[in-house]
Amino acid sequence: MSARLNVNIDHVATIREARKTIEPSIVAAAVLCEQAGADGITVHLRGDRRHIQDRDIELLRDVVTTYLNVEMTSSDEMVAIAVRTAPDAVSLVPENPNEVTTDGGLNVAANFDSVQSAIDKLRRAGIFVSIFLDPVAEQIDAANRAGAQQVELCTAEYAELTLGSRAAHGDGAKRAAAEVERIRRSATHALDLGLKVAAGHGLTYRNVGALASIPEITEFNIGHNIIARSVFAGLENAVREMISAIRQGS
Ligand code: PXP
Repeated sequence: MSARLNVNIDHVATIREARKTIEPSIVAAAVLCEQAGADGITVHLRGDRRHIQDRDIELLRDVVTTYLNVEMTSSDEMVAIAVRTAPDAVSLVPENPNEVTTDGGLNVAANFDSVQSAIDKLRRAGIFVSIFLDPVAEQIDAANRAGAQQVELCTAEYAELTLGSRAAHGDGAKRAAAEVERIRRSATHALDLGLKVAAGHGLTYRNVGALASIPEITEFNIGHNIIARSVFAGLENAVREMISAIRQGS
């Protein structure tokens, strides 16, 4: 069985916020993704509210019928919003003030107490908790000890190695294959601990296949590449094409 696809629709809100207006509708985007076969909707509520707003989470909670996954930091403010709006899942991510997008996984080992306390509050509210991590055993072990139910392996390094034609030049293919291997070993390690395994960040129609062939990975969170494609192909087609790329790889 191929992995589930949660479509990250942050960048629909990026276009809306560029004009501080009401279009394009985040609700319409979520419904179209679901109608095209997405298994869930992911949004990232950032501290600076550069795209998704608090009200978007409330609206999405009312309309998403598949699975609503909200990415956020483990701050008290964010945890309170999650407990109030009750998404199906929360993915804990790190956040640096000047980053363009999430810059690597959360260092759970270094922030253990605050992460554990956030997980505890979220799980007591009945929310499934995932942690976005670099694919290294020490972080996976820490996530498990902190009470996470899933790890989302950060694929940023793999995305970088496969960007454009990079994997076709020099030792590019070898380095990309080594990174797939590192992700595969991490996925097996997490599953052995009883954790579910997701993956995401920088994945595209071209590079998702190699990761879709890792059976331990049961969920992908993919955003930018789908929304970019939707500008030319329409959102429903863009989602269908990604589902097909995942199925072909698995
Ligand atoms: N997973 C996590 C934890 C993220 O922070 C992001 C970006 O918001 C994604 C997946 C999706 O990344 P991309 O937009 O590059 O597909």
